[in-house]
Amino acid sequence: MIKKMAAGNWKMNGMLDSLKEIERLQAAHSNSKIDIVICPPAPLLLPARKKAPDLLIGAQDCHQEVSGAHTGDLSASLLKDIGAAAVIIGHSERRQAHAESSALIKEKATAALNAGLTAIICIGETLEQRQAEETLPVLKDQLEKSLPETATAQNTVVAYEPVWAIGTGLVAEPAQIGEAHRFCRAQITKQLGAKAANMRLLYGGSVKAANAAEIFKIDCVDGALVGGASLRFEDFSPIIEALETA
Ligand code: PGA
Repeated sequence: MIKKMAAGNWKMNGMLDSLKEIERLQAAHSNSKIDIVICPPAPLLLPARKKAPDLLIGAQDCHQEVSGAHTGDLSASLLKDIGAAAVIIGHSERRQAHAESSALIKEKATAALNAGLTAIICIGETLEQRQAEETLPVLKDQLEKSLPETATAQNTVVAYEPVWAIGTGLVAEPAQIGEAHRFCRAQITKQLGAKAANMRLLYGGSVKAANAAEIFKIDCVDGALVGGASLRFEDFSPIIEALETA
């Protein structure tokens, strides 16, 4: 049985006061049968950990080196040390705005796994690539180049996030999500073998309470990576409930 995962990516949103949203999630979902991961901005990781002992806390990026002269960067081992359980790697906003290549993402994911963190590795096609019918080759390339050989179903999660669906209100059609997820499942198994056959596959891109249940019915969807709708308890809690009952 794959344990499902609802992960909330706060991006560069939230203040100290936003910890109250995490407290409410902790109160409402402390006995959840799914993994609930909150990924707030880095300065909120430690207080979030303290407020939500039964939820998982995740970072939004880490450096590929263990330590050193990298001003402004965060090591995976420090994230682990302060109680993070996971880290998002290779989000399309970092691939685009920070020119992160799949090769770099693989190095970062390797650092995360070596530190004992779960790597949530993001992949997804742009609108131009979808329109050019390159979606599956793009996903294959990103999976081949971004996933460490040491990735398993236990230590790694893949988030399929079509770039055109992120923060736009445009959700991929169920058939598009199903096709991408089935393809990823087959590709990951081919690439890494049986140890990765059950790797969790999250969908991300404008997931909301109103569309969550429909998305969670789709074959090979094991949860969601949620941006905007993870910021407030009122929005995120119903998505968690939809996954708990899916
Ligand atoms: P969104 O973001 O839910 O706001 O579309 C998803 C993501 O970027 O992970």
